Amino acid sequence: MSRLNTKICIVTGAGRGIGAAIGRAFAREGATVVVTDKNETSAADVAREIGGHHLRLDVASEADWTALAEGWPACDVLVNNAGITGFEEGLRQHDPEHASLADWRAVHAVNLDGTFLGCRYAIGAMRTRGSGSIINISSRSGMVGIPAAAAYASSKAAVRNHTKSVALYCAEQGLNIRCNSIHPAAILTPMWEPMLGDGPDREARMAAFVADTPMRRFGTVDEVASIALLLASDEAAYMTGTELTVDGGLLAGSAATPQTS
Ligand SMILES: NC(=O)c1ccc[n+]([C@@H]2O[C@H](COP(=O)([O-])OP(=O)(O)OC[C@H]3O[C@@H](n4cnc5c(N)ncnc54)[C@H](O)[C@@H]3O)[C@@H](O)[C@H]2O)c1
Repeated sequence: MSRLNTKICIVTGAGRGIGAAIGRAFAREGATVVVTDKNETSAADVAREIGGHHLRLDVASEADWTALAEGWPACDVLVNNAGITGFEEGLRQHDPEHASLADWRAVHAVNLDGTFLGCRYAIGAMRTRGSGSIINISSRSGMVGIPAAAAYASSKAAVRNHTKSVALYCAEQGLNIRCNSIHPAAILTPMWEPMLGDGPDREARMAAFVADTPMRRFGTVDEVASIALLLASDEAAYMTGTELTVDGGLLAGSAATPQTS
């Protein structure tokens, strides 16, 4: 397994969930993986498991990115995966009428500022290598409105758009640096716990969340990691500025079955 042999791959928010799965998939393919997370303990645990390096990195902190660049001045792949819903401490009002400015900004600071800072670091770090792949984890929520999670949806839509600016900028500069976004829908990770709870209605809540998904189930972290692996590898050498949905068919549209009787 050597699709990423000799590549230095940095993953943010990789202490658990989708980021950890991406780190594991990259390590299996021969990459040197740098597992970063705001939570240093979980980053260290994943790094130990996969034989990688770890670093505490709060993606919203410019100083943390400067420190990363000192340790890793060159890299081949960056996955801007770290993200928050704003519901980590419990459900809050995030609709357009009631969301507080503080909550709105907190979500954008991690999801959007973090991605901007990551892309900015990566362009410099990949310029010295001559090529590279930046993968931004957006969301299905970046493509549609989500009234109850307006800050999250706005931040992920901006990530989708910034991905294309970065892709075009790198191409304009004559750099072989690709930048693409991945748009998962419901993927079962700890991010969902505040919304699912551990009460007797957990199964019913899970079913309700995917009732409109044509495949009628949550996706798995490995189903996202395999797409990140494709974009990280040289197999995707002609893909830049694109967006890949991993959503069980949710954005394909609704079935409009002709009535025969
Ligand atoms: N799980 C889903 O259904 C789903 C769907 C669409 C998009 N996404 C996106 O995928 C990415 C990963 O989601 P997940 O479900 O694995 O989440 P998760 O909550 O399980 O894990 C997120 C990780 O990011 C870390 N993190 C949080 N804030 C950080 C910061 N400021 N700096 C660095 N690390 C930070 C956390 O410590 C945690 O380890 C996120 O960007 C999320 O928005 C997830």
